Amino acid sequence: PVIKFISPDGDEQDVEVDNGTSIMQAAVDNSIEGIDGECGGTCSCATCHCYVDEAWMGKAGEADPVEQDMLEFVMDHRPNSRLGCQITMNDDLDGIIIRIPEEQ
Ligand code: FES
Repeated sequence: PVIKFISPDGDEQDVEVDNGTSIMQAAVDNSIEGIDGECGGTCSCATCHCYVDEAWMGKAGEADPVEQDMLEFVMDHRPNSRLGCQITMNDDLDGIIIRIPEEQ
């Protein structure tokens, strides 16, 4: 499946990943700026904060309580805020649009 990352400047970058890859890992592997993933995907750093395009929120699912707690620490929290390490790609998410925040 493909993830479309959109930078704060509006630059778009499509990356193709295997099923089972997290959005954070996809960003790190493809040198997408602005998603860091310092904790390696254990939901404990919140440096993989991103915004899921509104149209994709249903398919991406909801943040579990641990993730919700972490999201309280991010800059510029919005209703569509998620941690990229907690969204695992699958064919249903093919084409998902992810916006990268100004800062982590
Ligand atoms: Fe650390 Fe997602 S990579 S919370």
